Amino acid sequence: MAILFDEGNKNFYIQTNNTSYVMHLLQSKYLQHVFWGKKIPSISACQYQKYYECEQEFSKNGGTMDSLPHEYPDFGNGDFRKPALVVNCADGSEVIELEYSGYKIYDGKKPLKGLPATYARDAGDQTLEITLSDEKTGLSIVLRYTAFEKHDAIARSVTVLNGGDSEIKLKTAMSASLDMELEKGFRLLSLSGAWANENNVIEREIKPGSFSVESRRIASSHQNNPFIALLSGNAGEDCGDVYGFSLVYSGSFLCDIETDINFNARVRVGLNPFDFEWCLSPGESFTTPEVVMVYSDEGLGKMSRIYHRLYRECLCRGNFRDKERPILINNWEATYFDFDEKKLLEIADEAAKLGVELFVLDDGWFGSRDDDTSSLGDWHTDMKKLPHGLKYLSEKINQKGMKFGLWVEPEMISPDSDLYRAHPDWCIHVDGRDRLTIRNQFVLDLTRIEVRDWIVDTISNVLKEAGVSYVKWDMNRNITSPGSPSLDAKRQKEFSHRYILGLYDILERITSAFPNVLFEGCASGGGRFDPGMLYYMPQTWTSDDTDAVQRVKIQYGTSIVYPAITMGAHVSAVPNHIMGRVTPLETRQNTAMCGNYGFELDVTKLDDCEKEKIAESIKYYKEIRRIVQFGDLYRLESLYKGNCAALMYVAEDRRDAVVFLFRERMELRKAARTLRLKGLDLTADYEICELGIRMPAVELENVGLVMPLGKGDFQSCIMRLHRVN
Ligand code: DGJ
Repeated sequence: MAILFDEGNKNFYIQTNNTSYVMHLLQSKYLQHVFWGKKIPSISACQYQKYYECEQEFSKNGGTMDSLPHEYPDFGNGDFRKPALVVNCADGSEVIELEYSGYKIYDGKKPLKGLPATYARDAGDQTLEITLSDEKTGLSIVLRYTAFEKHDAIARSVTVLNGGDSEIKLKTAMSASLDMELEKGFRLLSLSGAWANENNVIEREIKPGSFSVESRRIASSHQNNPFIALLSGNAGEDCGDVYGFSLVYSGSFLCDIETDINFNARVRVGLNPFDFEWCLSPGESFTTPEVVMVYSDEGLGKMSRIYHRLYRECLCRGNFRDKERPILINNWEATYFDFDEKKLLEIADEAAKLGVELFVLDDGWFGSRDDDTSSLGDWHTDMKKLPHGLKYLSEKINQKGMKFGLWVEPEMISPDSDLYRAHPDWCIHVDGRDRLTIRNQFVLDLTRIEVRDWIVDTISNVLKEAGVSYVKWDMNRNITSPGSPSLDAKRQKEFSHRYILGLYDILERITSAFPNVLFEGCASGGGRFDPGMLYYMPQTWTSDDTDAVQRVKIQYGTSIVYPAITMGAHVSAVPNHIMGRVTPLETRQNTAMCGNYGFELDVTKLDDCEKEKIAESIKYYKEIRRIVQFGDLYRLESLYKGNCAALMYVAEDRRDAVVFLFRERMELRKAARTLRLKGLDLTADYEICELGIRMPAVELENVGLVMPLGKGDFQSCIMRLHRVN
């Protein structure tokens, strides 16, 4: 049993195989947070009471509420920290008093209507719903916790219901709030970056004060991923306490931490209250996105592996969830907008010979789009470039033994497009204000149902008619002038969230209508690489930066939360189109093989030696693909901490493993590096396939494996291991 309520002690226990999360009902009224960490069978009856009495004794003048660890803090009742819930009541006041009014426990997990969320698949998974109510307004909230028993994860979300008879306004509704006493030395980890430089691993010591990681861009953003982790002072890859919070949402979000001088901290994760307000009429409810919380007592590595498995198995959906992903070639960096049918077929011809499985036609195939100044919205084939049409091209590609994939950017509209000329009001704007273009484009107003219907119909027709097997769904600008004439004045601040709900509605409709199409998300690379998008599209283009050195860092950071199977990773030409850097082909190949392998270069321009290397790498990747895409990741070394990165993927049954080493700068007198491996079956011996030798796992994990490196900067090496007994 994963969840239980101890009536006598008034404690709620949420148990997974290795963790516990405990709450206490103080005076049978106030829900308090007690513990989240390693599994414990129960909490002694006196524990929380004692804590409370001490606090009361200390704060005789009435400050108790300000120091107690509340489970879901409201506003105005003596707790001066940041609240999880703020509502504006009919009388204009914002004071509410949430008191316990009941709970229920059920097997499995219900979907969150209109929102992406994890789903339960295993017998032990259970959900707890605790209801708290405010008598005066009739407002009630349901705190929802699902225990993923086998995965050691907890998913939390909240529903706010207006059970009163007047309208109220929601101003803040966090998905989770957590009050915990930290030891000095705790660090906060975030994944922060910029375009072409996503998901850098940033760690900072937690000090008294407030700190936030957020997006106000109506996209989860290149700048910050919707994720934070708290790390104990001694925590590293394999040791120490780590508490992860990953928000299943693709829009503006907030993860913040407020810490007092005694290191009592409050973490809040959810929708960004900035530019947010939601009107709730009597009888209406609002559900927050969910946050997935993972505790690890064995460092960051274990936390990542938990997220990887959970997201692979219980977040991603559809026919491709459990399938090996195809090796693809995309024409973007090979041609940009400058291509025709002949050129594409030449690239496809060569790619097919090399063993590529999917050809993807990127931007520029529609309207009259010879650059980025026009045609978004005009989703009909440019017959100048493709005189026989898309279907013909797709069939030609299929005849070469490859599937055909297509780029689209359905959320956008170019001012120079037939669509804009026909529906100038469909783009996001505020009447009487300038319409600001970014990358020469506007964004369609997805809060309007007629716009969503049009996108679903138009894109569906393209996919049907052209025989498309894969879609790259791009999104290349953030939203300005947020607002919609279709919403009442009092609902304008609902726009940002409604945009994302509109996007989810479109994605749900299109992806379920095309179960055999593989969808890959993209937002100028990783500008919307988040769990929300992965619920609809099981992989994402990790970054526009395909330079091997940058990519090793970006993919390393991305791997903190997201499994390799979700990361698009391609070999491109040198000098790299963004960095101008020249790296060896082997290193570019090895880097891309740490994700969903692919190519982004003109293969017709390669010499024979390069073609041979690429063909070999494709053959090799097909052999290791299952291990990388479905295995457990062990990070052995980090470029954020030194000159090398090393990653190791181990198959679930631990029969096979593959080790990657990357070195940024040449080191004199270091022709090799010894890596201590992890995750192997310590009772077994392994064959090192590249060396043809057999070694015991105990030796590989304690003494290490010698990985040779060539001379020069940007060298890399791969070794494959196979259990022999
Ligand atoms: C941005 C994407 O990240 C690129 O891969 C490419 O598809 C371009 N958009 C096309 O405009």
